[in-house]
Amino acid sequence: MKTVEIRHPLVRHKLGILRDTATGTALFRQVVGEIATLLAYEATADLALNDIVIDTWAGPLSVGRCDQAQITLVPILRAGLGFLPGVQVLLPSAPVSVIGLRRDEETLQPQAYYQRLVHDIAGRTALLIDPMLATGGSAIAAIDTLKAAGCRRIKAIFLVAAPEGLRALEAAHPDTEVFVAAIDSHLNAHGYILPGLGDAGDRIFGTPSP
Ligand code: PRP
Ligand code: URA
Repeated sequence: MKTVEIRHPLVRHKLGILRDTATGTALFRQVVGEIATLLAYEATADLALNDIVIDTWAGPLSVGRCDQAQITLVPILRAGLGFLPGVQVLLPSAPVSVIGLRRDEETLQPQAYYQRLVHDIAGRTALLIDPMLATGGSAIAAIDTLKAAGCRRIKAIFLVAAPEGLRALEAAHPDTEVFVAAIDSHLNAHGYILPGLGDAGDRIFGTPSP
């Protein structure tokens, strides 16, 4: 499985802000968006361009224009929504498909609760968006759904991934291309990534556990 860990100093700097428990909801969401833009930049490095001829001050010129209709953005609800605006900075016209999954915190199994995919997804590259890859169960379930809908090319961006999740994803879907800001140490006994970010959805949405 192609796996790219973005080790750019700006990404590492911003991840340090996210890891800090002193970082509040508004700054956390802002920085998640900034890293999402940088990850999306890397993940779209091979985006196909169409040649078109435009008029310039010096006469006609052939330029490349990217066709965002070749892509659908696929945030995994809920935390993926916090990642979406940063990706849309670069791909504002790409249609959005959503997959709702909630991890059962006892069994660590993903439970599906919502799905709405763009109708012609089979002809598009899906860019799966979720801040966290922990056990890998949610990403695997989302990619199962995308492939069942006919999707053949899937890229995924995560803020933080655990080695356990990457191994599980590679075993289930080795054809996925993964772009991640950090590959962390391991999962704890409750399936949380260490050092990780804590519960990314709760931090993005300001909903700490009681
Ligand atoms: C988090 C995260 C991933 C999933 C990762 O979502 O955003 O979707 O857990 O865990 P896994 O790799 O072990 O499946 P969560 O289920 O907590 O829901 P939320 O986005 O609503 O907070
Ligand atoms: N979900 C999160 O938000 N964080 C983790 O560390 C694991 C799953």
